Amino acid sequence: MLRQRTRVYTAPRHDSIPLAPTIITTMAPRSSHLRSLRRLGLILVTGKGGVGKTTVSTALARRLAEDGARVLLLEMDPRESAHRLLGLPPSGGEVLECGEGLYFQNLQPRRVIDRLVRERIRIGPIVRKVQASPIYEHFVAGCPGLEELVILGAALEQLEPPHARTTPFQVVVLDAPATGHGLALLAAPRLVSEVIEQGPFGRLAGELATFIGNPERCGVVAVTHAQDLAVQETLELCRSLEAEHGRRAELIVANGLYPALTSDASSSSPTARIWSQRRAANLQALERLAAAPAPVLQLPLLPIDDGPRLAAELARAL
Ligand SMILES: Nc1ncnc2c1ncn2[C@@H]1O[C@H](COP(=O)(O)OP(=O)(O)OP(=O)(O)O)[C@@H](O)[C@H]1O
Ligand SMILES: [Mg+2]
Repeated sequence: MLRQRTRVYTAPRHDSIPLAPTIITTMAPRSSHLRSLRRLGLILVTGKGGVGKTTVSTALARRLAEDGARVLLLEMDPRESAHRLLGLPPSGGEVLECGEGLYFQNLQPRRVIDRLVRERIRIGPIVRKVQASPIYEHFVAGCPGLEELVILGAALEQLEPPHARTTPFQVVVLDAPATGHGLALLAAPRLVSEVIEQGPFGRLAGELATFIGNPERCGVVAVTHAQDLAVQETLELCRSLEAEHGRRAELIVANGLYPALTSDASSSSPTARIWSQRRAANLQALERLAAAPAPVLQLPLLPIDDGPRLAAELARAL
């Protein structure tokens, strides 16, 4: 049984709301969750839409890099937002260095597939002809599991580069899509390798299935809001992980918790009352979340705009 530990994190002050210091509660010894995440190669961060997956992925990558790991934050969302949290311009698909040990890449499967075709065929006019053909378009858009394999293959290549001259990353934090699609990432290699056993595609799928299936190399972090629906989805995610993949999430991050108000402010204004109600709802949802078979780490809602300061503060709170 995990014992509950608490520690105090002093969040930056909100302009108009008098906040008490935030008590960060984890169901694991302090920093042990980070140590166990650091031992993994690939950390897949998933959760319901809008709960803070990109923000938490960025803070986590930053924190692991601050702790001395060589970390790649991999974003696969074409809307690109992680660069803002790192204070960078959009990466355009390149690996960018953004601090001691911390690197970032926005990786879009389509771009990777196009690059692979260019590298394989090499003759410009033929490449253009292939890429303009409707068959190629249908294959890339419709081939089940292709996008997932491309992303996971790129992550594995960064952890175990095929060329000795490339320095491997110790950790890749993958800002994965929302829950259903996030789980598809885990399932794709095994499903594809069962159907296609031969050829480069079958071999890649087999290699990735072994890698993903190894809990020492690949782990899942589930991000949630401490709200009814999000908690429900997180508990279902945990059930699917166990039933379909025989694994547990390494960590659940309950993000965006309303911090406590100072005792004299609790009922003094309508804003403070709404704030207190939301916090009470958070605490209730956290009680439900305690049934999840994974340690739960709480992160406060911070009065800071999307940007490097938000990622830095959350990294500090992790
Ligand atoms: N702890 C926090 N404190 C303050 N703001 C936060 C916190 N976590 C996330 N946010 C803000 O919430 C918004 C949504 O966060 P984010 O983009 O990380 O969610 P997401 O789960 O990646 O969304 P999507 O499903 O659309 O990819 C952003 O504006 C972000 O700045
Ligand atoms: Mg996101």
